[in-house]
Amino acid sequence: KYERGYFTAPVKSQKWMEKEYIDNAPTWCSVDLRDGNQALIIPMSLEEKLEYFQLLVDVGFKEIEVGFPAASETEYTFLRTLIEENLIPDDVTIQVLTQSRDHIIKKTFESLRGAKKAVVHLYNSTSVAQREQVFKKTEREIIDIAVNGAKLLQKYATETEGNFQFQYSPESFTGTEMEFALEICNEVLDVWKPTSENKVIINLPATVSMSMPHVYASQIEFMIDHLKYGENVIVSLHPHNDRGTGVADAELGMLAGAKRVEGTLFGNGERTGNVDIVTLALNMFSHGVDPQLNFEKLPEIKRVYERLTRMQVPMRHPYGGELVFTAFSGSHQDAIAKGMKWREEYTNRKWNVPYLLIDPLDIGREYEGDIIRINSQSGKGGIGYILKQHYSLELPPEMRESFGYAVKDVSDKLHQELQPEQIYQIFMKEYVNL
Ligand code: KIV
Ligand code: ZN
Repeated sequence: KYERGYFTAPVKSQKWMEKEYIDNAPTWCSVDLRDGNQALIIPMSLEEKLEYFQLLVDVGFKEIEVGFPAASETEYTFLRTLIEENLIPDDVTIQVLTQSRDHIIKKTFESLRGAKKAVVHLYNSTSVAQREQVFKKTEREIIDIAVNGAKLLQKYATETEGNFQFQYSPESFTGTEMEFALEICNEVLDVWKPTSENKVIINLPATVSMSMPHVYASQIEFMIDHLKYGENVIVSLHPHNDRGTGVADAELGMLAGAKRVEGTLFGNGERTGNVDIVTLALNMFSHGVDPQLNFEKLPEIKRVYERLTRMQVPMRHPYGGELVFTAFSGSHQDAIAKGMKWREEYTNRKWNVPYLLIDPLDIGREYEGDIIRINSQSGKGGIGYILKQHYSLELPPEMRESFGYAVKDVSDKLHQELQPEQIYQIFMKEYVNL
């Protein structure tokens, strides 16, 4: 029923795999308000979108796809509100999505009246599956849809005041033969004729991720090698997460040369979601590369995200999940407690605490309550750490073991996690109120 992916690019020497990491942050484009919003059980209201837009601006996004304004009244009104109420900072470029149809493109440009600048994003489906089953069109007919759309964008852009950049996505790129994807992109580029002052974005979506990350990256490399107009074309990634590899797809795609990434906060988006920009950015941060996005207040960002999308960030979600800096088990707690002590002594050393990829404080998490939590799996090191942090009590070595057993025993019997006050009570009962 299934076979090996036949839309692979020629997987060549992959010189880029020799690089240890990505040198610079890409241009990030948030698609939360479009791809993310269209996948919600209850899409955001106008007020919610306005608040979410402000959240994205505060995080530091300089490109934000605000919707498909010709497709729904709410999206149209949202964009008009952003423009009329002057809510778009000068250093932020909004992006709007459109299909290749005259009346839709016309309405898209109407919705942009008064915008100082915008990216207008044209897409059509190019995969074998969509060509054969949905559109029932030949390759030439599919190319004509894209080329006609490209010409219409040019026509309406010259008739509308403002500074417009063009973007084209061969939607379902990963289900498209690479030679065909290349041909259609090059024909679109021949219409727009990008220059160094007027660059064009070619966005290559893993609309459905279908291959291993190195294969997607090879496809990106193939396109970068063969697209016309060289440096005047910005190659952009748009990974989804169907195989659970959205982050790996984006990281390898950047190593292969892409300079722009579209994704969402916490990976909201169609089906398994778009690539999670929080994880991507903080992975960069953990490698000492400035991601150019500010996640210093991640818990607050998560609260706003959860309220507005009505989604929940899973407890084990990288960086943001409730439990991702927490150790319950004895050996992990002991190592962390020792690592934190070592750090107090050697403050000038690089972060290298066992089991903690980054310093939780850097993203607004706490040591107390976030790192060491106590249940029946815990050990004397972690229990001692809690007493010291919360009650400035340092147990002498000969008491640590027996007190550890006493605490674990209570947790085991109650079948509950224990809070610092409960541990203190056990201490008082065992050693003070004898
Ligand atoms: O996933 C996708 O292909 C898209 C396009 C519209 C870029 O969202
Ligand atoms: Zn998408």
